[in-house]
Amino acid sequence: MAYELSSTSWGEEELDAMQRVLRSGRFTMGEQVRRFEDAFAARFGMKHAVMVNSGSSANLVGVAALFYRSTRPLQRGDEVIVPAISWATTFHPLQQYGLKLRFIDVELDTLNMDASTLERALTPRTRMVVAVSILGNPAPLDRIRAFCDAHDLILFEDNCESMGAMLNGRLCGTFGDINTFSTFYSHHISTMEGGLLVTNDTEIDHLARAIRNHGWARDVPVDSIVNQGQRHDDPFFKAYRFVVPGYNVRPLELCGAVGLEQIKKLDDMLAVRRKNAAHFGALFKDDPRFIIQRENGSSSWFSFTIILNPASGLDRDRVMQTLRKGGIEFRMITGGCFPNHVAVKYFDYDIFGNIDNAKTAHERGFFVGNHPHEIAAELDHLRSVLNGV
Ligand SMILES: Cc1ncc(COP(=O)(O)O)c(C=O)c1O
Repeated sequence: MAYELSSTSWGEEELDAMQRVLRSGRFTMGEQVRRFEDAFAARFGMKHAVMVNSGSSANLVGVAALFYRSTRPLQRGDEVIVPAISWATTFHPLQQYGLKLRFIDVELDTLNMDASTLERALTPRTRMVVAVSILGNPAPLDRIRAFCDAHDLILFEDNCESMGAMLNGRLCGTFGDINTFSTFYSHHISTMEGGLLVTNDTEIDHLARAIRNHGWARDVPVDSIVNQGQRHDDPFFKAYRFVVPGYNVRPLELCGAVGLEQIKKLDDMLAVRRKNAAHFGALFKDDPRFIIQRENGSSSWFSFTIILNPASGLDRDRVMQTLRKGGIEFRMITGGCFPNHVAVKYFDYDIFGNIDNAKTAHERGFFVGNHPHEIAAELDHLRSVLNGV
């Protein structure tokens, strides 16, 4: 039996939405994107949502905005505390803007940043914490938020893997000063490629709108702080105001239109993912050979992680061969332990204490897919295949 990593969450509604856009002849960012942004901000109870062409771009635009804001902008050489496990593009914009990364370990069971390390990892140059909820499981965002508030630090929440997750009744992706989401295929909702930056800070919203669009303030109100010093009296000059160094990371109308359909389905899809998770937990919770992800708050269960308990003596290659033979797809947990990758040679970074748990997850962990439909049979198959290792 085939057990795949991901599957489509689209139905006829998304295809119809695409057709409507194609027939309209308006392809580049416009009304559909704007409506999706409004729906997304409303769903997450936040003031602003800015759509871009990927979650990676949302991270890039968010970091850039923090360099151009009027109050205490970030500066090159500032330090950022980051978890050792995340996706590569959680980290790359930090490097690209000249920040210094300080990696801290994760907990082996939740796979999230170990918040008990934060106080000790702080230095006089620390300006920001990047919190990542791994694979649907809320990071200790309440503790991280309190820590940031106590030390006047920016909290940047990369929530690209955890749409719909909640901690203490609050949605992940709403704890940060800047919060990012991905709507890539296989994520909780999919717009093919896509991402959003979500914030309650109006200046960040305006900066993000300019940065995603060539640094051009076309979508920014004339009276915004971002527009200071620009000419507005003459329509000729008013139309072309470049206010910050930017990119072109705009989303397509097709993506906005599909997003509007997908967000209507989010709650139902989350319910199915949680039902699958209950089945997975029942099958694996009592097997000490496998360390499965311990839920913190209410996970939105992107996928199901398994770490081969070092005490079990299980050989990873043998387990992987067995999974392959059984038709079960699997992959590395997010991007693994980032300092294990060659790219880190380009970074200004240090590792605070040790990152042994992240290394264990990298060496001995993998995940199998969760889906927006029921997968009880696939999970039973996984269990029986792993019984044989
Ligand atoms: C934690 C995290 N951040 C950022 C991204 C980047 O998102 P995208 O693939 O939409 O660029 C991902 C991708 O899955 C991710 O897992």
